[in-house]
Amino acid sequence: MAEKLENIGACVFDAYGTLFDVASAAAQCKDELGDKWEPLSDIWRMKQLNYTWLRSLMEEYKDFWQVTDDALDFAMDTLGIDDKALKGKLINLYATLDAYPEVPAMLETLRSNNVRTAILSNGNMTMLNSAVESAGLSELFDAVISVDTIKIYKPHPSVYQLAVDELSLPAERICFMSSNAWDVAGAANVGFKVNWVNRFGQATERLPGKPANEIKSLDELPAILGL
Ligand code: LAC
Repeated sequence: MAEKLENIGACVFDAYGTLFDVASAAAQCKDELGDKWEPLSDIWRMKQLNYTWLRSLMEEYKDFWQVTDDALDFAMDTLGIDDKALKGKLINLYATLDAYPEVPAMLETLRSNNVRTAILSNGNMTMLNSAVESAGLSELFDAVISVDTIKIYKPHPSVYQLAVDELSLPAERICFMSSNAWDVAGAANVGFKVNWVNRFGQATERLPGKPANEIKSLDELPAILGL
């Protein structure tokens, strides 16, 4: 049974992998990629995240669009794919990723119950606004918050502080959702109430910061809030 969360002031969502399906870009190039589409998608995502952590440690910030572009180059190189047109198609698709199917109705339920909603993401504003708009979610968020203002990536504590400041709420009144287990750890470790959207059945991270709940999809969120 999920733990009910009380006295929540806002629901804050991770973007990539949580609201938006990062595999949908490579999936739309199955004709060109054949059975390499899935390895490409996996290496692309893993390298993208690795670069955020490495660049943060190196104090060599580049925005998430550049990191995503670099990671795609690495993934294509790894799989021996040398095709500039395909690279262009893949990176452009990243700006208009599909939202997971339950997302619009879940957000509408929260908003019709006067729950504030926000995104807190590594993405820069241009790519976040593009993803939100193309998925038809523009009217459903009170705030879109990007790490680009402080130029360091999750899970640095200062990233989660951005949501505390923007929403004027203490950490314990913020309900945070992420499918990325390491992001869950980072958010829970600063005191957010976290629901881990474990879409892919991943193992639990051995890191500080534990989620209040583990759920399979965002459909389960309204009931956790007593809606
Ligand atoms: C984000 C990455 C972690 O949206 O998916 O912040």
